[in-house]
Amino acid sequence: MSLGISAKPKEHLVATELTKDFAGLRAVDRVSLTVSRGEILGLIGPNGSGKTTLINLMTGLLRITSGTVIVGDEDITGWTPHRRAHAGLARTFQVVKLFKDFTVRENVEVAAISAGGLSKREARRQADAALAQIGISHLAEVPASILPQGEERRVEIARALATSPAFSSWTNRELA
Ligand SMILES: Nc1ncnc2c1ncn2[C@@H]1O[C@H](COP(=O)(O)OP(=O)(O)OP(=O)(O)O)[C@@H](O)[C@H]1O
Ligand SMILES: [Mg+2]
Repeated sequence: MSLGISAKPKEHLVATELTKDFAGLRAVDRVSLTVSRGEILGLIGPNGSGKTTLINLMTGLLRITSGTVIVGDEDITGWTPHRRAHAGLARTFQVVKLFKDFTVRENVEVAAISAGGLSKREARRQADAALAQIGISHLAEVPASILPQGEERRVEIARALATSPAFSSWTNRELA
C-alpha cells in the first residue's frame, strides 16, 4: 500500500513487515498495512491466525520480532503502550475489563486521565463527549457492575475515544 502525496503525514498509521515469533512459532509473518485517520479497517481470519498478536504488536503490548510501526512521521516501534497512547494509538480488548465499583462516567474519566494527563474537570468533559459520541450519555451515572455485555462494550469504546486517539483498534464485533 502507498500513501497519497496530498495526505498529511500525521493522518496515517503504517505497519511494515511486522513479524512475531513465539518460541518456534511464527504468529505474524511480514504483515504490512496502512490505516488512514477516520478509516475503519477490518481484520478477519480463523482462530489462531494472528489477529490479536498483530494488534498487540501495533499497540506495543508485545515486543516486535522485526518490522516497524510509524504514526505520522514518528517511528514508534520501540515505544511503550503508554507513550503510544499519547501519540494517538488506543485499543480496546476482546474481554472488557471495567471497574465494577465505578459508574460508567467514572470508568471513562479514568481512561482520559491516565492517557492524557488531564485535570479531573477536563477528563469529565472528555468523558461526557465520548459517552455522547457512542450514544450512552443516559448511562453515565449507572454503576458498571449492572451493565449488560453489549453496553459494557460501548463503555469500553467510549474509554478508548476519551483518550482522543488518532487511531483506535476495535476488534471482533465490538459494535454489534
Ligand atoms: N504469548 C504467546 N506465546 C506463545 N504463542 C502465542 C502467544 N500468543 C499467541 N500465540 C500463538 O500465536 C498464534 C496467533 O494467535 P492470536 O491470538 O494472535 O490469533 P487470533 O487470530 O487473535 O485468534 P482468535 O480468532 O482466536 O482471537 C496462535 O497459534 C497462538 O497460539
Ligand atoms: Mg484474537
